[in-house]
Order: sequence, then C-alpha cells, then structure tokens
Amino acid sequence: MNFVVLGAPGAGKGTQASVLSQKYNIPIISTGKIIRDAMRDNTPFGEKCRPYMDIGSLVPDELIIPELSKRLKEPDCKNGFILDGFPRTIPQAIELNRKGIIIDAVISLEVDDEIIVKRLLGRRICSNCGASYHIADNPPKSPHKCDKCGHDLIVREDDNEKIIRARLKMYHERTAPLKTYYSGCDKLKVIPGQANVEDTIKLTLEAVNNL
Ligand code: AP5
Repeated sequence: MNFVVLGAPGAGKGTQASVLSQKYNIPIISTGKIIRDAMRDNTPFGEKCRPYMDIGSLVPDELIIPELSKRLKEPDCKNGFILDGFPRTIPQAIELNRKGIIIDAVISLEVDDEIIVKRLLGRRICSNCGASYHIADNPPKSPHKCDKCGHDLIVREDDNEKIIRARLKMYHERTAPLKTYYSGCDKLKVIPGQANVEDTIKLTLEAVNNL
C-alpha cells in the first residue's frame, strides 16, 4: 500500500503515519526529516534548504523532488510506503503521477490553526528516535526523556510562533489546494484531527480498513 498523509504543520501527520507504518509494516518517508537530517549533516542539499527552512517557507520543488525520488528507490519501499509531507505542492503531486506511483489513500488531517499553534509550542521531540510528545496533552513519563529510548527531548527549531505562522501560511497557499487535486478520486479520506490522539487514530484506521 502507498499512502500520502496530508495536513497543516502540526496537524498530526507524523503521529498518524506511525500508526499506518506499524499496521502495514512499511516505512514512513518524511521529507521534513530528510531535510532536517541533511541540514544537521551539513550536506550540499541541506545547505541549499537551510534559507527556506529558517523562514518557514517550502523548499523549492526542484530541490526536494530529486531527493524524494532517490529515497523511493531504496529497497525498503518495495512493498509500499507512507509519504509524510510529500506532495506539498501541485507540481509535486503531478511528479508522483508522472512516475506511475499509485497512491491507495490520501489521509487529510483537518485541524484549526489556533489549535495547531498551541500544539506545536508544546511539542517535544526525541533527539534520537524522533518520537513526538506534548508537554500537556501527551507528556513523557519522565520529564525531558523519551519513553521509548530514554534519550533527551528537544524543541524543534521551527517550532516557534513566528515560524509556525509562516508554515501555516505556506500550507494554506500551496498545500491545501492538493485536497481539490485529490478529491476527484475516492482516495481522499478527510479525518477531523482535532480530537485527542486515540480518537484520531481510530478514525484513520476506520478509513483505511475500508480500502
Ligand atoms: P515537516 O517535517 O513535514 O513538518 P510539518 O509539516 O510542519 O509538520 P510537523 O512535523 O510539524 O507536524 P505533524 O503534522 O507531523 O504533527 P505531529 O504528528 O508531530 O516539514 C518541515 C519543513 O520542511 C516544512 O515547513 C518545509 O519547509 C519543508 N518541507 C518538508 N517537505 C517538503 C516538501 N515536500 N516540499 C517543500 N518543502 C518541504 O503532531 C504535532 C503535535 O500534536 C505533537 O505534539 C503530537 O503529540 C500532537 N498531536 C498529534 N495528533 C494529535 C491529536 N489528534 N490530538 C492532540 N494532539 C495531537
């Protein structure tokens, strides 16, 4: 199965992608993580992305599409994958289509902007395994430490209010039109992602169980 998880920053794409990954035993391909890892490692690709990431803008299609294409050629993708954060523009979606990649379902998470700002300001990420927590709604058992691997929890660099609002603006201008793009087929599954994590997981699983 091949899935796309669509949604504003902080809508819960990573959270729902993990559920699908466990259910189908297929990898999550997060273009945001690919970019952050490249920036951390100071690769030429990462350095080209940095100015866009610093202001909460999208990385240009001509930079991200070749990276995604490379990743999809890796052997772990042969039985399917979950795209978390790709496509983010209409040209990116057209590119998937051009490559002949069949998407079985597009999970679109719908969450109000103000809820998102609150969520992202309280988000903490494991510096080792990437697990995500919220200081009030989904706190780790021991403060500042990951429940899964015990490493330190950190705040993502783009989780500050100014950049969060810039990312939301980008989402509404460039990414939300993908809902219309995918609405022509019965693959678009709109999930109200405002409820708590468990209820949202239930809705996602109901949507994919009927595929
Ligand atoms: P990316 O890494 O994809 O970040 P994002 O879209 O901003 O999304 P996040 O990872 O912040 O949030 P999420 O939706 O995964 O939510 P999460 O599950 O963590 O991209 C980063 C940047 O890279 C972009 O801004 C762009 O510049 C660039 N980029 C990436 N891909 C690109 C592309 N294809 N083209 C161009 N540029 C690209 O949940 C958030 C919080 O909410 C957590 O604390 C979680 O515990 C909590 N939570 C989740 N679900 C619920 C729920 N149902 N109820 C209550 N709390 C919940």
